[in-house]
Amino acid sequence: MAIRSKLVAGNWKMHGGTLQNRDLLNAVLSATADLSGVELAVCVPYPYLPQVQSILQGTNVSWGAQNVSQHEKGAYTGEVSASMLLDFGCRYVIVGHSERRALYGEDSHTVALKFRAAQSVGVIPILCVGETLEQREAGITEQVVAKQLEAVVKSAGINALGTAVLAYEPVWAIGTGKTASPAQAQEVHSFIRGRIAADAAEVAEGLKILYGGSVKAANAAELFAMPDIDGGLIGGASLVAEEFIAIARAAK
Ligand code: G3P
Repeated sequence: MAIRSKLVAGNWKMHGGTLQNRDLLNAVLSATADLSGVELAVCVPYPYLPQVQSILQGTNVSWGAQNVSQHEKGAYTGEVSASMLLDFGCRYVIVGHSERRALYGEDSHTVALKFRAAQSVGVIPILCVGETLEQREAGITEQVVAKQLEAVVKSAGINALGTAVLAYEPVWAIGTGKTASPAQAQEVHSFIRGRIAADAAEVAEGLKILYGGSVKAANAAELFAMPDIDGGLIGGASLVAEEFIAIARAAK
C-alpha cells in the first residue's frame, strides 16, 4: 500500500492584506520546523502572489492560486493564465471550487479545461468535487462526485490525475461549521479512490485526496486518521496562524 504524505493547504478565499499576510505567514513559518512529513501550502488571491512568493521562497511552505483561466492567453479581460501563475512560482492552483461552480457558473467541462491549462505549464491542480445538502439528502452524492470527476478524466485522461490533487468538499460543510463526520468523509474518499483504481490502480494509490469543509484544530486529527484522507483544504481556519498550525500538526 502506497504511503501518501499529507498536504494541508489553506484557501484564503477573498481575504488578506499585505500586513495581515506578512504576520500570518511569519507565524506559520516559525512553526514549520516540527512539521516534517507534512506539506503546507497557501492558495492566495492573485494580487498577493508577489508578496507571498517573496516571503515563502526557499521555505518548505508552497503557495498557489484559487483559480486560473482555461485559456493560454488573449483577449480575456480580467482573466489570469496558468503561465502567469508560474511566473510567480505557484506550485498549486485550486480548480472547480464549489463557490466558483455556484457563483460564477463554472461547469465541469470548464473545470476540466482549467485543470488541463494548469497541468500544461506544470502547476498542480487541486480539483474540488462535492455535493450540496439537497444532493446528499437525495442520496446522489456518489453520482454527483463521479460526474464531476469523470468530466476531468474524459478531457485530460485518467493518468493526468497522477500529477494532481483532489479535494472532496461537501458544499453543506463549507463555511458552516457542520463538518462531515470522519466516516462520512472517508466513505466518499474511498469511493473516489475506488472509482479511479478501477482504471488506474497505481494512480489511485498515489493520489492525494484532501478533505475540505469546516476543518478546525479540534476535528482535524480524527479526519486525517481516516485511511483515504490525505490532508485538508482549509478555509477560514487557514487565516488564523494558531489554527492552521494546529491543523498541520494534526496531519503528522
Ligand atoms: O476550499 C476550502 C474551503 O471551501 C473550506 O472552507 O471555511 O469550511 O474551512 P472552510
